[in-house]
Amino acid sequence: MLSLMALTSCLAFVALLLCFSFSVNPQPNHYPTASAPTSWTNSPSLPQNFTSSSGEIVRPLLRLNTTRGMSFATGFYCFPPCKSFFLSIYILYIDYPVYEGNVKYIPPQVIWSANRARPVSENATLQLTSQHGLTLRDSDGSLVWSTSVVNRSVAGINVTEAGNLVLFDINNSTIWQSFDHPTDCLVMGQTLAEGMNITANSSSIDLVESQFYLTLRAYGLYGYFKSNHTLEYYYNIVYTTSNGTILVDKSIKFMNGNLTMFSTLSDTDNALPIFTFPPAKSIQYMRLESDGHLRLYDYDGFQWEMVSDLFNMDNCDYPTVCGHYGICNNGQCTCPAGTSGNYFKPVDNRRAELGCYAITNITCQDVNSHLLLELNNVSYFSDVDNVAFNTTDEESCKRACLGDCNCKAALFQTLNGNLSDGNCLTLSEQLELVSVLSTVPVKPKQSRFRTGHATQMEEREICGTLYYNLPVDGNVSVLATGLEGLN
Ligand SMILES: *[C@@H]1O[C@H](CO)[C@@H](O)[C@H](O)[C@H]1NC(C)=O
Ligand SMILES: *[C@@H]1O[C@H](CO)[C@@H](O)[C@H](O)[C@H]1NC(C)=O
Ligand SMILES: *[C@@H]1O[C@H](CO)[C@@H](O)[C@H](O)[C@H]1NC(C)=O
Ligand SMILES: *[C@@H]1O[C@H](CO)[C@@H](O)[C@H](O)[C@H]1NC(C)=O
Ligand SMILES: *[C@@H]1O[C@H](CO)[C@@H](O)[C@H](O)[C@H]1NC(C)=O
Ligand SMILES: *[C@@H]1O[C@H](CO)[C@@H](O)[C@H](O)[C@H]1NC(C)=O
Ligand SMILES: *[C@@H]1O[C@H](CO)[C@@H](O)[C@H](O)[C@H]1NC(C)=O
Ligand SMILES: *[C@@H]1O[C@H](CO)[C@@H](O)[C@H](O)[C@H]1NC(C)=O
Ligand SMILES: *[C@@H]1O[C@H](CO)[C@@H](O)[C@H](O)[C@H]1NC(C)=O
Ligand SMILES: *[C@@H]1O[C@H](CO)[C@@H](O)[C@H](O)[C@H]1NC(C)=O
Ligand SMILES: *[C@@H]1O[C@H](CO)[C@@H](O)[C@H](O)[C@H]1NC(C)=O
Ligand SMILES: *[C@@H]1O[C@H](CO)[C@@H](O)[C@H](O)[C@H]1NC(C)=O
Repeated sequence: MLSLMALTSCLAFVALLLCFSFSVNPQPNHYPTASAPTSWTNSPSLPQNFTSSSGEIVRPLLRLNTTRGMSFATGFYCFPPCKSFFLSIYILYIDYPVYEGNVKYIPPQVIWSANRARPVSENATLQLTSQHGLTLRDSDGSLVWSTSVVNRSVAGINVTEAGNLVLFDINNSTIWQSFDHPTDCLVMGQTLAEGMNITANSSSIDLVESQFYLTLRAYGLYGYFKSNHTLEYYYNIVYTTSNGTILVDKSIKFMNGNLTMFSTLSDTDNALPIFTFPPAKSIQYMRLESDGHLRLYDYDGFQWEMVSDLFNMDNCDYPTVCGHYGICNNGQCTCPAGTSGNYFKPVDNRRAELGCYAITNITCQDVNSHLLLELNNVSYFSDVDNVAFNTTDEESCKRACLGDCNCKAALFQTLNGNLSDGNCLTLSEQLELVSVLSTVPVKPKQSRFRTGHATQMEEREICGTLYYNLPVDGNVSVLATGLEGLN
């Protein structure tokens, strides 16, 4: 009896010892800096190697010591099934005590990535040298990414409390910083200067740049959808002072509770809030996402939550909401010509938001066998001032598209209710035909946003009739006009 108890307690003691030795990791959590030269090889044997609750492998190389809560780290990162890795800055949740075995592995939030388009494999190396700064090479030795450091000697790197990765010299002056090269996110404390872009990822697991980007320009903050034309889908005009002078040296800063524009020109108009939102519960970041929305995230103590959809626009005003050729009406997606048409079909009958495809493509061989499918009362997500229009009459507009096999559709807008005087927009790419807004009667787009004193710039909606350029074969609809029908 006694010996059994002794044995049990001995076993318990051994178990405790084992348990203890597993949970205690000799690597401290506080290692925000590294000195040149240093080299890291991406492998499971790096000092820190976690798997999050949703399967991402996280290998922080630099990490701030926080006894509890959120902190920024820089290192390798992958999405399951984890065949390839990104070099990223991410927000990690560290639970108390700071030992490995007790860290709560919630999915880290990636806020910056060096190698978005070229993930690397196991055994890729990251080198820090005084001459070149950081250099990322894949396992075959090929150069994937590097910081450009010219004529400066790098003493070390540091991940700061704000989430900035900084290369500094012997005097601690900054040589290069990730804040100057934003990817798809802004974090609190970060500034976006005029001309800098934030570009969305292609999807939540594909970090290749998508067609959506956000930029601060002379007239304000703009959201663009890039295709053959660069189409603006969001703007917030902030460009003048109260006396009408154009602001210079503009930048926007993400602060606790607002995103505010600053300019060196004006004292009175020095801080114009572009967005205001609830103050941070932990660490906030905002991300331009693959659907064109700019969303603000915060950790509520249990999970990451979306706090605000900052553009605050109608869903139909986002370019890709109904996919290729899709028509958005009151948040519903349909294909052109509805059920009677024989020209377009939904990509997936149960998921209208995936868009439509043309049943038969037009060919360049027989330009004469094209017809136009007419769709009235259509408005477009971009504004008149931001697309290349031709001022012409309706017949010429239709003819220009019919005669060009690259023209997928033409949009004609009358200027004075007169068919001989209007704007003609020809769209050569499927992508430019995403999310046409069909409205009867034409609904003015949800008014957009002005901060400060912009009065000169007027919103001019594109709305009118859309003509799809289609092959003649198939049942010719009453709505369709062949080239012969003109004249
Ligand atoms: C983390 O920081 C605390 C407070 O500065 C310090 O007491 C502790 O030793 C640090 N832990 C590690 C692992 O560096
Ligand atoms: C590192 O992470 C990988 C992937 O989760 C895992 O297979 C491996 O066992 C881990 N290695 C260590 C030393 O923890
Ligand atoms: C990484 O390199 C080590 C040492 O050269 C090698 O044993 C290992 O198989 C490599 N791992 C991969 C995934 O190639
Ligand atoms: C770098 O230094 C070299 C030699 O001093 C000089 O010729 C060159 O112009 C410098 N480059 C830059 C970009 O400053
Ligand atoms: C590195 O970052 C930490 C945290 O922001 C800061 O305390 C420290 O002074 C920085 N070190 C250098 C050399 O910049
Ligand atoms: C650089 O920063 C580190 C950490 O903050 C500090 O220990 C060091 O004295 C600083 N060096 C200089 C030259 O300011
Ligand atoms: C921002 O994007 C535009 C359009 O792609 C490009 O012309 C410009 O060079 C980019 N700016 C920066 C700083 O990369
Ligand atoms: C923006 O946030 C900062 C920091 O919380 C605050 O000091 C400032 O007053 C705010 N500005 C506006 C216009 O709300
Ligand atoms: C307009 O105001 C700015 C400062 O807000 C000032 O620098 C500028 O001289 C003023 N311009 C005119 C024409 O009054
Ligand atoms: C039409 O063209 C698209 C894009 O070029 C292509 O993906 C599709 O397969 C073509 N459809 C037909 C029916 O040829
Ligand atoms: C405008 O018309 C000219 C001449 O007909 C043509 O070359 C150009 O492609 C047209 N542009 C658009 C946007 O339709
Ligand atoms: C972009 O426009 C050019 C010339 O108009 C055309 O050749 C090209 O195919 C277009 N790109 C796409 C992806 O449609």
